[in-house]
Amino acid sequence: MLKTGILGATGMVGQRFIQLLEDHPWFKIEALAASKRSAGKPYKEAAKWHLDVAIPDSLSGVVVEQIDPKIIDEFDLDFVFSAVPSDIARQVEPQFAEKVPVFSNTATHRMDDDVPLVIPEVNSEHLDLVNVQKKRRSWKGFIITNPNCSAIGLTVPLKPLYTEFGINSVEVTTMQALSGAGYAGVPSMAIVDNVIPFISNEEQKMEIEPLKILGRFKGDGVEFADFSIFASCNRVGVLDGHTESIFVKLNREFEIAEVKEVLNDFTGDPQRLKLPSAPEKPIIVMDEVDRPQPRLDRNKGGGMTVSVGRLNRKGRLLRFLTLSHNTIRGAAGASILNAELAYKKGLMG
Ligand SMILES: NC(=O)c1ccc[n+]([C@@H]2O[C@H](COP(=O)([O-])OP(=O)(O)OC[C@H]3O[C@@H](n4cnc5c(N)ncnc54)[C@H](OP(=O)(O)O)[C@@H]3O)[C@@H](O)[C@H]2O)c1
Repeated sequence: MLKTGILGATGMVGQRFIQLLEDHPWFKIEALAASKRSAGKPYKEAAKWHLDVAIPDSLSGVVVEQIDPKIIDEFDLDFVFSAVPSDIARQVEPQFAEKVPVFSNTATHRMDDDVPLVIPEVNSEHLDLVNVQKKRRSWKGFIITNPNCSAIGLTVPLKPLYTEFGINSVEVTTMQALSGAGYAGVPSMAIVDNVIPFISNEEQKMEIEPLKILGRFKGDGVEFADFSIFASCNRVGVLDGHTESIFVKLNREFEIAEVKEVLNDFTGDPQRLKLPSAPEKPIIVMDEVDRPQPRLDRNKGGGMTVSVGRLNRKGRLLRFLTLSHNTIRGAAGASILNAELAYKKGLMG
């Protein structure tokens, strides 16, 4: 078993890591770390636990550490997962990566040209960028990132469309869950009976991250995909699950039946390698006119499947809706799948 630590263990994403790693066949949590506010307290007191499963017995009494690379030696860690705010990540992730692999949820290093931004079903070959990164930065470890939670729900279905039909342009409007803003995120007085048509920096991430992920790996860097994305991001009163209304102009003529088949049949390395967190199907196409819906569909494939529905077309313009679980497929589950793939590819030392 590889020993891991969670940086940001008390937060919304940190809690998902704890839930998803309980009974993991390859990885065992040895250290829980968070801010000074939490350090020194037993986990069950430090975390405002919000999941509908109990804190694992083995971790509820564990004393939370302050985030500091000293914990690598103290707990003999093989690697860490990071779910801290971006400004904290800027400071601490490189300190950890000097010694061990870091699988990060934060935006801080996603667009660095030697840092892989990976969805394992989509661009597993980009993982090899860590060799460039380690050499350039003289680190023993490395940083591998997963995309923004909405960018994942968009990019997974774009991949088979891009491969099969080519993409001219994309327009997307999101309806994003409250858990995407972290525990202290949006005050209830602001969101009940309301929609907030602004999420700081979100549209910028949606418009650039898919182009890196769908880009071509050239050995020493990534050549970005060449089409435009225009995004509008909204916060809605849903607890978990980001919904996205997507319009894609494809490069060639198509029939809806053909698109359905291409989406439904899509699989990648995680399925081929039978990685422990891989859903059997990365995409499920739903035919019901009123699906997908967050409450009904967010936990498909253990929260790792992207549900697609409402397919329609006008000429070469394809419309569809996606739903993905933002703290599982869009965050902790995404990082864990990246770590499983890196382990299987022999990158973990
Ligand atoms: N929520 C999502 O759906 C989602 C999806 C993808 C990516 N992300 C990214 O993942 C990261 C975590 O998000 P979250 O939603 O889990 O946020 P959160 O609920 O606010 O949790 C933040 C975590 O970081 C710790 N932290 C805060 N300030 C710190 C400091 N000064 N020093 C050290 N640790 C500090 C907190 O510890 P204390 O409890 O001790 O304050 C907590 O463990 C963010 O970068 C976010 O953008 C989130």
